[in-house]
Amino acid sequence: QHFWLHGPRSGQPVEFDASAGMWNVYGYPELHEVLMDPATFSSNTMRVVPKEMLPKEGFSLEGFITQLDPPEHGKLRKLVSSAFTRKVVADLEPRIAALTHELLDEARDRGRFELVTDLAYPLPVIVIAELLGVPSSDRALFKKWADALFQRDAKPTLERRAEDLDAVMKPWREMSDYLADHAAERKLRPRADLLTRLVEAEVDGERLPDDQVVNFAIILLLAGHITTTMLLGNTVLCLDAFPDQQDKARADRSTIPDVIEESLRFLTPFAAVGRATTREVELGGVTIPADQVVMGWLAVANRDPRQFPNPDVFDPGRDPNPHVGFGRGIHFCLGAPLARLEGRVALNILLDRLNPLRTNPDDPAELMPTPTMTGVRRLPLL
Ligand code: HEM
Repeated sequence: QHFWLHGPRSGQPVEFDASAGMWNVYGYPELHEVLMDPATFSSNTMRVVPKEMLPKEGFSLEGFITQLDPPEHGKLRKLVSSAFTRKVVADLEPRIAALTHELLDEARDRGRFELVTDLAYPLPVIVIAELLGVPSSDRALFKKWADALFQRDAKPTLERRAEDLDAVMKPWREMSDYLADHAAERKLRPRADLLTRLVEAEVDGERLPDDQVVNFAIILLLAGHITTTMLLGNTVLCLDAFPDQQDKARADRSTIPDVIEESLRFLTPFAAVGRATTREVELGGVTIPADQVVMGWLAVANRDPRQFPNPDVFDPGRDPNPHVGFGRGIHFCLGAPLARLEGRVALNILLDRLNPLRTNPDDPAELMPTPTMTGVRRLPLL
């Protein structure tokens, strides 16, 4: 059995981590309070993070939707949501299915199947590239940037030493320039793609500034790629570890969306979100001073027995299943419909083509190296 079947657990719902100088929020109701009160728990964490922990100049998420507070956040969110609608996402279903089959055919022809490299990593990046409307010949560029930014074999960005930063900065600039060029192109010659919709988006007479079009395109790649990779890998791990649930899902495909939701609870890909306190605040019986970094552990709250009975059992039948795998409140994941769609389509096809869907006991999975990411970076299947 995998060790992480026993969820991450802590004694206290809110704890100060003296070595990191941050407050960890583990409890479900406490985390709910944090996420629903952006006035006290600001998303603009850059303001309070010590300078030496910040990435070098030029590589900053300042002004990105994930870092904004009301009222700026709401304005930007309305504009990008008007371009990135449920319909835009739903229309992708046949294409996601075709891509999944293509990728699985290629793996079959190679004669081995490693879920991450062969399907879970390439699928979301291709979908995002196509959604934005970049030429399919440039798909390789997107993969190159994603590889560089996620550094699958290295330490997380913030922990890397200065000389390693170049490896991130260069692709970052390349990607920004590439997207800025394409956005400018779309202003002149509109097409049926998301970049054009972003360029043309208008709410209450306001449009997206050029840099925000580029920022949002970048966020799609940053927030929508590896998280989805992890969701697919984690779901396969769950169905491997709980074979009776695999049988159930196989027999009744209408339960697949519930399997995806329970996977997000049980192995939460985006394990923690950062906030900064704007004032002194009482939370879970402790007092947090102003200007402190707070880490909200979605992955731990999703195993809080006060909210989820038998939290270490993978049970897609939980009803309701109010997990916080996509966050909660004003920053609730904007890509949730796309992640759910990719998860449902890919899992259905995996179940169609692989029976049983089993990991390879002689070639064990490798986990992601960072505690804030719950997932595998290598998952050989039988
Ligand atoms: C926000 C998780 C897929 C785009 C978030 C947040 C979480 C999350 C937890 C909230 C962050 C916070 O409160 O600070 C996930 C997971 C995914 C996933 C687990 C896959 C399983 C995607 C996809 C896209 C996307 C596919 C787009 C293509 C975004 C954006 C935000 C966001 C734009 C920021 C929303 C805002 O700040 O208002 N995501 N995400 N995500 N996600 Fe996702």
